[in-house]
Amino acid sequence: MSISVNNKVALVTGANRGIGKAIVESFLKHGAKKVYLAVRDPASTKALEDQFGSKVVTLRADVSDADSIKQLAKQAKDVDIVVNNAGIMRLASPLSENAEEALTQELDINVFGLLRVANAFAETLEANKGALVQLNSIASIKTFADMSTYCASKAASYSLTQGLKDKFAEKGVSVLSVHPGPIATDMGESAGFEDAPDATLVSEGIVTALENGDFHLFPDELAKQFEAAYQSFSDNIITANLSV
Ligand SMILES: NC(=O)c1ccc[n+]([C@@H]2O[C@H](COP(=O)([O-])OP(=O)(O)OC[C@H]3O[C@@H](n4cnc5c(N)ncnc54)[C@H](OP(=O)(O)O)[C@@H]3O)[C@@H](O)[C@H]2O)c1
Repeated sequence: MSISVNNKVALVTGANRGIGKAIVESFLKHGAKKVYLAVRDPASTKALEDQFGSKVVTLRADVSDADSIKQLAKQAKDVDIVVNNAGIMRLASPLSENAEEALTQELDINVFGLLRVANAFAETLEANKGALVQLNSIASIKTFADMSTYCASKAASYSLTQGLKDKFAEKGVSVLSVHPGPIATDMGESAGFEDAPDATLVSEGIVTALENGDFHLFPDELAKQFEAAYQSFSDNIITANLSV
């Protein structure tokens, strides 16, 4: 299902920095009527508020807290496009001392966070015939040893995204699964990614993918290499109409 951001109301979790902030900027550049900035610290969106005035509305939200996300959904009943961008990365291999603690935190934010957001907004998205955009990763389809726990969480969020695609399709709601490679953000820097592309590549890609009605987006050059290798599996298994 194709959806243009022009004249739409959007909501972005983790909108204050990195890829989330770039999504806000791209959506407004392409004509979004209003963007809700769903963030943990309302003071962190001051620069966006100064730049965009009444086109942005800051709402406090923590994706690790189900009540906070239910509250958020009550405050944004006019939203057409929900972008679940908030995420964390801990550097841990399966043999790291902190592996269990890292995976627990990553599952809470990256996986249960998606469940909380999808369920809290399901009714509104159905009523508005909108779209859910989930920030997954190339790490959803390939595990990099020293960030194995993060990859496990992103594989799990991708798996849920596939289920959401089918269940939301019955309600007339589109789902887009976004799979960037390394991107130049605070997270990218903490992971030691060098010469990574700008977050704008991801945010502009999301606008186009929504218009095209795509399910997957592999926005940057490295991600597109993954896409080329993954395409056949995706066509024949992931997006194929298979039942068990
Ligand atoms: N950068 C990459 O290379 C890359 C590649 C593929 C996928 N991704 C995915 O893209 C998304 C954005 O990544 P990024 O690089 O922009 O990360 P980032 O620079 O570290 O920013 C993370 C954002 O998530 C927010 N956040 C974290 N925990 C939260 C919580 N419990 N509730 C609400 N918001 C929370 C942060 O808010 P605070 O400011 O309050 O901490 C911040 O706005 C993530 O899902 C990430 O996994 C990133």
